[in-house]
Amino acid sequence: RPSDVAQRFSHTAPAPARPSFGIAFDIDGVILRGRSPIGGAPRAIRRLYSEEGTLKIPFLFLTNGGGVPEHKRALELSQLLGVNISPTQVVHGHSPYRELVKRFEDDLIVAVGKGEPAVVMSTYGFRKVLSIDEYASYYKDIDPLAPFKTWKVGQTDSHMSAKVHPSYDVYSERVKGVFVVSDPIDWGRDLQVLCDILSTHGLPGTEKGDQPPLYFAADDLEYQAAFCSERLGMGAFRIALESIFNEINDHPLKYTSFGKPNPFVFKNAANILEKLVMSMYPNSQTPMEGKDYQFSTIYMVGDNPKVDINGAMKAGHPWSSVLTRTGVFRGKDNDPQFPADVVVDTVEDAINYILKKEC
Ligand code: G3P
Ligand code: MG
Repeated sequence: RPSDVAQRFSHTAPAPARPSFGIAFDIDGVILRGRSPIGGAPRAIRRLYSEEGTLKIPFLFLTNGGGVPEHKRALELSQLLGVNISPTQVVHGHSPYRELVKRFEDDLIVAVGKGEPAVVMSTYGFRKVLSIDEYASYYKDIDPLAPFKTWKVGQTDSHMSAKVHPSYDVYSERVKGVFVVSDPIDWGRDLQVLCDILSTHGLPGTEKGDQPPLYFAADDLEYQAAFCSERLGMGAFRIALESIFNEINDHPLKYTSFGKPNPFVFKNAANILEKLVMSMYPNSQTPMEGKDYQFSTIYMVGDNPKVDINGAMKAGHPWSSVLTRTGVFRGKDNDPQFPADVVVDTVEDAINYILKKEC
């Protein structure tokens, strides 16, 4: 019987060699447009698994998007793509925020953006988090345009219920940090409330003071969503906030942006892929013994030259870039400013190219 054979020979059979390459996939404009898979993504991603559904090739998703905890996104992607994706295979723009928990131990912080920004921050371990929806709701008249808004605000974050009394003393406790987690929804209200918080040392309606720290999960000017042309991203919101803040204050806005193309994002992704491949092949020999990296190549498959390709270029060895034509980039040849190592039509073509080269 096959199982007996496997048992008898298991101590002598050589362990399968670890792949010497890994892959990082951008999501928006490569795997999905809006919520729909594109470019043959489900079929192509399935090639990275065995017939039995076990992961064969180490890969992860490296997106500047987000708005939900990584475990939730992993579940969504598993359903959309028909494979089993683990939370460690999902790196959002905001994933590095978890490293800042210690700095804001018992401080009140405000989380901004679509989805569940406050839930994301609580999942990372931040203890006193309010979404901007909830925070703004405690300040009557803070948004003079609210009475004209026909939509119901604040229904997306499960931290936002119909609370009348704030969980924290928002009228005397200063906001010590602002985290833009995902693309803001109500730009007008958010620009107003953030200018209030950031100009007044964290207490709207009081005198001007030091600016609390401000973080952006990414700085994408534009990205590919479901609409046929690019949409304004978090970087566009940052420009709007910065321009207004600088006009109404006598000192410039200070902020930190995370996400691609920062090289530390790629370094972190490489570390995750290395841990992943070791857990997939615990007994096999390291093919690149003695080298800094176990991988000879990590492919970044992206649609945005300025973000994905530029980032892989800046990160250097062992990163190599593959540009698809399903998102921000639609050129015939290569991008003139940030040329990729390879240009293909779709993510399926990218996977075909990589597997042909490596296997
Ligand atoms: O909001 C998402 C966007 O800025 C980029 O996502 O997956 O293309 O990095 P992605
Ligand atoms: Mg993209």
